[in-house]
Parts: sequence; structure tokens; C-alpha cells
Amino acid sequence: MSLPRFPESYWLSSADIPAFEPLKASIDVEVAVIGGGITGITTAYLLAKEGKRTALLTSGSLIGGTTGYTTAKITVQHNLIYDEHIRHFGLEKAGLFYQANNEALAFIRKKVEEYGIDCDFTEEDAFVYATTDVGEELLRKEVAAYRELNIPGYLTDDLPLPFPVRSALGLRGQARFHPVPYLVRLVTEFVRMGGQVYEDTMVEAVEEGSPNRLKIGGGIEAVCDDVVSCSHFPVLESGLYFARLHAESSYVLAARLPHGQELPAGMYISADNPTRSIRTVTYKGEKLLLLGGESHKTGQGVCTIKHYEALEGWANSVFGVTDFPYRWSTNDFVTLDKLPYIGQATGRHPHSFVATGYRKWGMTSGTAAALLLTDLIVGRDNRYRELFDPVRFQADPDLKELIVQNADVAKQMIAGKLEWLTRKPDELGRDEGALVRIGGRKAGAYRDAEGELFLVDSTCTHLGCEVEWNNGDRTWDCPCHGSRFHYDGGVLEGPATEPLKRIE
Ligand SMILES: Cc1cc2nc3c(=O)[nH]c(=O)nc-3n(C[C@H](O)[C@H](O)[C@H](O)COP(=O)(O)OP(=O)(O)OC[C@H]3O[C@@H](n4cnc5c(N)ncnc54)[C@H](O)[C@@H]3O)c2cc1C
Ligand code: FES
Repeated sequence: MSLPRFPESYWLSSADIPAFEPLKASIDVEVAVIGGGITGITTAYLLAKEGKRTALLTSGSLIGGTTGYTTAKITVQHNLIYDEHIRHFGLEKAGLFYQANNEALAFIRKKVEEYGIDCDFTEEDAFVYATTDVGEELLRKEVAAYRELNIPGYLTDDLPLPFPVRSALGLRGQARFHPVPYLVRLVTEFVRMGGQVYEDTMVEAVEEGSPNRLKIGGGIEAVCDDVVSCSHFPVLESGLYFARLHAESSYVLAARLPHGQELPAGMYISADNPTRSIRTVTYKGEKLLLLGGESHKTGQGVCTIKHYEALEGWANSVFGVTDFPYRWSTNDFVTLDKLPYIGQATGRHPHSFVATGYRKWGMTSGTAAALLLTDLIVGRDNRYRELFDPVRFQADPDLKELIVQNADVAKQMIAGKLEWLTRKPDELGRDEGALVRIGGRKAGAYRDAEGELFLVDSTCTHLGCEVEWNNGDRTWDCPCHGSRFHYDGGVLEGPATEPLKRIE
């Protein structure tokens, strides 16, 4: 197998990110923004521009969440979505969704130009392509939706891809970029305007009120008028987000093309299953093909290394690539009705806000969220307020999805508890992890390449489901709401904020 042994994100490996100290004493600011991904950084930047005294707090390092593991296409073409949005919300709202994302794309383009950011920002056409009858039928409906919404798409079957395509829906003027230098520049501007940044600062809880109180641990608090949870999964307890969001993982490989082979121009995503995403990178002399797909519910499904292998097999058969210098995977949240939740977390607390649920399209949606949240906080009208309002509820599709997703959580919770295990830690080979039994009790065990054994309590610290071993990334993943933990128990992805307990 030609995959690198450990997952590594190209974005995080190829550009510098400034480091900031953790919060060590209580602070009092106008706005506290939680989360150092594209949503949090862009929101903090915009609020500072509005003259708001703002602090950005993030667990781990800046850009170390999903944003550091994205594919970073900046497009309003979120695979197939407009036909579905018209059916669920009507023409007007589907059109607003398009416009909000289009404005986000224009915002990123403008910032890149304004600051002259060297971030491989390249305008390209985006395509959804079909290779089967089913895909073609879906594409036909999406084309009709584009016409109704006046989205200037075009049909083609002539793509520079090395495999046959039945038809494709193209959209001009979309873009790709390297998210790290772009976001680092926004952080630099934020700090220049007086913004405060704290890394390795896990917000354990938020006491919503006037003021809001963010609990950091060790008695430290961040007190603020407005709090914005851009933490991927909301930190706020109100809003029942655990029942209204589910996490989906997907995988990316970066490949070097054989000598002399040209990178194909354009960004592609398949209408057919399994989803395949294609884009290129041309950053500081590096030329790579990024290939993505293999989506599944986090913590569920087949052994995760199989997803990397499936992607590698496809990449090899289609592009003839065998050199994969980087591979990574991450998850993103999906809401009940597939529209992001952006706005006041509940009707009860007018000064606490959330932004989440981008269904793997957060470069535009996260930016759209920052623009909307800024307007809400400074008290400006915004025509997207109602569309993204997190407290909306629409019987179709919300009710059906609510039942499906929560029945699945209940099933995972019970199945995890009932699973009978016979393996013991001694039986694990090097670089192997599994759920084991010690002293009649279930535990998560991983033996690293040097032979050291890491034992953790396998009960997720969020709401008590049993975590599953992810052998592709060497993490413990929760099948209920998508929390991910390092093999030593540390939190990698929320909603959990507490590590898995170490067993000595
Ligand atoms: C494989 C894959 C490919 C994708 N490709 C694309 C693409 O091509 N185009 C596109 O538009 N989108 C894409 N996406 C989606 C996009 O990457 C995400 O929607 C986006 O990065 C989410 O950004 P965010 O700022 O909301 O979250 P994150 O980047 O996850 O940031 C959240 C931050 O909050 C911090 N945090 C969490 N909990 C706490 C806490 N309690 N206290 C303090 N801090 C906390 C985390 O450390 C993290 O830094 C992809 C997603 C995946 C999974
Ligand atoms: S993420 Fe909710 S129980 Fe694990």
C-alpha cells in the first residue's frame, strides 16, 4: 500500500500559522468568539472591523479543526442541492441560499485582492458530473432548478478528465484556495485592530445571560456581552443541537501526478455514489491533485482504513497515481433540513449565537455565517436572518430526520453497551487499537509503534455512548454525535469537551 502511515493535512504542513498563548486570567470583552476555524476567524475579523472589543478563543491551535482538513473549494455549487432546497423551502429561500453563498465567495475574492494574499486563489469552473443513469437523472433535476433560480450553469459532456462522463453541470467563476495563508492574514489584521487571540483554550461551558460567562477551567472566565459559538459543534447547552445535528466523516488524498502529466483544470464532484471530489493545488511550486470522498456517519461503518484504500484504488485506476504524500480525514455536521444553523442559538438568549451545519461546504457557508452574525451583533438588518435561523422548524423534512437521526443515536448507544468483548490488551500488536475487556470492564486500547499501551475509558464524555476505534486515523470516534478523541483520550473534535479518562 502506498499511503503514508499517519494522516497529515497538506494545508497544515505547507504554511506557517502564528502561535498564541492560552487564556491565563479572566477577561472582560464585548464579544467572545469561540472557535479558530474559518467561521470564528472571519467573524472575529469582521467584528473587530466594526470596532467591537473581541476575543477569539479556541481549543487546540488556530485552523486545527475541520478547516485545516478541508478540500477548500470555494463554490456555491454544493454538489446537488438546489432542486432539494426548492422542494423543501420554495423558490425564494432556495434563491437566497444561492445569493448568501455567492456573496461569501465574492467576500473571499475581495479580501484576497485587498490584502494581496498569496494563497493559490484561482478562479475555475466547478462541475457536478454524472457517470450513470441515476446520476444523469439527478443532474437533469438540478439543471431545471438552476434555470428556475437563474443560476448561470451550463451543460457539457466535454471534461478534461481521464474517464468517460455522461454529462456535467458547470458553473463559471468559482474558486479554490489554500485556506491557511488566507485565514492567517485575517488573524493578523484582527490582532492589528486590537483583537485578542487565545489558543489551547477549551471553553468548558457557557453560562448564558447578561453578561455571558465562558468557563475555561481553573476558575478562569471570559465575560462578554455577546458570545458566538463557531466551535463546529455548538458549545452552548441550549438549543438541543445534539438532537438536530449529525456528523459525517470524509477522506482526502493528495497525489503527485506522474512526470509529464498535466493537472486537469476545474473542480469536480460526482452526482453518483460513492461521491468523488477532484481539485488541484498549485501553491509555491507544489502541484498536487486532491481527491476526496468516501463519506459516512462518523464512528459508524466499515473499518476506516478501507475508505483510504478505496479512494487510493480509484485514484490509481483513473489517474494512474501511486505517490500520495498526504492523506487526511475529518468530519462536518449536517442539520435536519441541510441548511446551516446561523443566528441566535435559541429565542431565550438574545446575545448568544451559533453557526454550524455546513454539510462539507463551509468555505462559503462559514464566510456567509460570519457576515450574517456580524450584522446580527451590531444590530443591522440582514436578509438571510430568517433563512438560517437556528430555531426554525419545518415538518418536512425536519420531523422525519429528527426521528431517523435520534433513533440511530439510541441504537448506537444501546448497541455499544451490549457489545460483548473477548479481546485483551495483551493481544494487541504494535500500532493496533481495539475495544478490549479489562477486569470485566470495557476499555479502549491502542499499542503504538514503540509498544507503549494507551488505555482509555471507552464511554464518550459527551452523553455516554461507546466510542469506536478508527484505524485509519488512530482516533476514538463516537457514533452518536461525532466527537473524536486522540488515542491517549484527548479531545480532537467536539461536542465532547472532556477527554476520555485514562486507565492506568
Ligand atoms: C473532508 C472534507 C472536505 C471538505 N471540503 C470542503 C470544500 O471543498 N469546500 C467547502 O466549502 N467546505 C468543505 N468542507 C467543509 C468545511 O471544511 C467545514 O464546513 C468548515 O471548515 C467548518 O469550519 P468551522 O470554522 O465551522 O469549524 P472548524 O474549522 O472545525 O473550527 C472550529 C474550531 O472550534 C474549536 N473548538 C471546538 N470546541 C471548542 C470549545 N469547547 N472551546 C474552544 N474552542 C473549541 C476547534 O478547536 C476548532 O478550531 C469539507 C469538509 C470535510 C470533512
Ligand atoms: S458525541 Fe455525543 S455521546 Fe459521544
